[in-house]
This record gives sequence, C-alpha cells and structure tokens, in this order.
Amino acid sequence: MGDPTDLKSVKSSAIVIPDDFRPYPPGSFCLPSFYAKDVESVLIPEGLLRDRIKALAREIHAKYASTDEEPAPLVLVCVLKSSFKFFCALQLELELLNTEQSQLIAPPVSGAPYHNNGGQGNGTAIPSAGARLLPLLCEFIRVKSYVNTNSATENEVKIQGLADPVEAFAQKDVLIVEDIIDSGRTMQALLRNLQQYNMKSVRVVSMLWKRLIQGNSVSSFRPHFHGFEIPDRFVIGFGMDYNERYRDLNHLCIINAAGIARYATNQPS
Ligand code: IMP
Repeated sequence: MGDPTDLKSVKSSAIVIPDDFRPYPPGSFCLPSFYAKDVESVLIPEGLLRDRIKALAREIHAKYASTDEEPAPLVLVCVLKSSFKFFCALQLELELLNTEQSQLIAPPVSGAPYHNNGGQGNGTAIPSAGARLLPLLCEFIRVKSYVNTNSATENEVKIQGLADPVEAFAQKDVLIVEDIIDSGRTMQALLRNLQQYNMKSVRVVSMLWKRLIQGNSVSSFRPHFHGFEIPDRFVIGFGMDYNERYRDLNHLCIINAAGIARYATNQPS
C-alpha cells in the first residue's frame, strides 16, 4: 500500500464557502433559545448539511460498492465524539443506497401472519439485477482532545476504544469519518498510526475542511472526500463542540465572543 497521507492528487466535489461569504443571521433560523445568544451566525443550515451528506454517500458508494455476490465490506470508523452526527447521517444514507438496490423475493402473502417461516413468502430481500452493494462495518474510536480553540499539536495519537484493531482493520477497506480537518495534524497522525494494521486501503471523509491560509498557500491536509470547504472560523453545532458544549445545536454555526467566554476552560475535555 502507498503512503496513505499522500493526498495531493485528490479532486473534490465539495461546496466551497469563500472567505467573504456572509453567513446567515441566527434570527432567521430556529435555534435552541439557550444557545441563541452564543451564536454569531449560521454558516451551514442543517438541511444543507444533510443534503450534501446524501451526495457524499453516493460518491462513496460509487467508489466502493460492487456487483460481487459477496461484496467486500467497508469499515466506517467514527472518530468520537464530534463526528457522531455526521457518522450517523452518512451511515444511514449509505444504508439506504443498499436497501434501494435490493428487491423483495415475493410480496408478503395476503392475510398471512408474519412469523419466522424461513423467509418463504414473507418478503426476503435479494439484490436487484446488476445491483452494486456495499456492506458496512462500524467502528468507534477516540484519538484526541481539544482545549479552548487551540488545535492539537502532538505528532502522535493514541487510538482508544478498539478491543482488537488487527481484527477491525487488517486486509479491509477502511474509511475514517471525521467532522472537520483543521490543521490536519490529528488526521495525519492517525493515518500514520493505522499504517501498522496492513489495511487493503484507507481513506478519509470529513464533513468540513477548514481553509487555513498561510502566506500565499492553503496549509492543510486534504481529505479524500469532504462536504464543505469553510473559512478559518471556529464552528459549533451538528455534533461539534466548544469545550463539550453545543453538540446538540442543529445548524453549523459560528460561535461569538460571549459563547467563547462562557464556556472557556483550562481543563482538557
Ligand atoms: P486538527 O488536528 O487541527 O485538524 O484538529 C481536528 C479536530 O479539532 C477536529 O476533529 C475537531 O474535533 C477539532 N476542531 C477543529 N476545528 C474545530 C472547530 O472549528 N470547531 C470545533 N472543533 C474543531
């Protein structure tokens, strides 16, 4: 396998939100009232996030699904905690693509009770002709912590939460599901760590890719698939936190100074 951190040739269908984009006023959206005063603006409304995740799922399905009788599974790795909402939405869309490509062997017998008779006549699903299918395996890991608005600086990360990483990853296609790539250090360190497991392939899908401008160049690691390219602002909501707060905020928002001050901490989360 080549160097999984070498992503220079990646092309993306991501929606690019430019630096001069004027985000939406929070007053135009339904937000939980207990968070409204901490939000400067809404950057990406929930509906747009979900629509784009649906499209990302199609891209991923097209890349990995096969017509084989026993298609190889894709291991989806949820990087906890912040990716949980993105992971759930993406996993569901991938699951729907698989069910859409399957048909019933026979309609349920009219009036027959639904009981376990080996699937005969009760609508067991089989693939439609030429169906491209992608079984999914799900793993959940933790790799880092984030304090206030400073990104991690370590070059190494520890993977927590897997009983047997070899069993989970060896000889498999692995897709890391991340909420946001900021400096990209966490992801690069994670990919380096995973290299020891002899995977068939490893790629990264990130809901957001933050555009960090340094001098004249954009300085971050690019994921293989991503939903949106966003300006260098600290964002909260849709699972993403600021010191553990705001994960249950529905839209992706830009936090304001009051929110930053309210929940600032010196303790690692
Ligand atoms: P990186 O190592 O700098 O790429 O940091 C990646 C991690 O930092 C993400 O998985 C997030 O948990 C966290 N992070 C980075 N930027 C933001 C942000 O704007 N809001 C919330 N969390 C962020």
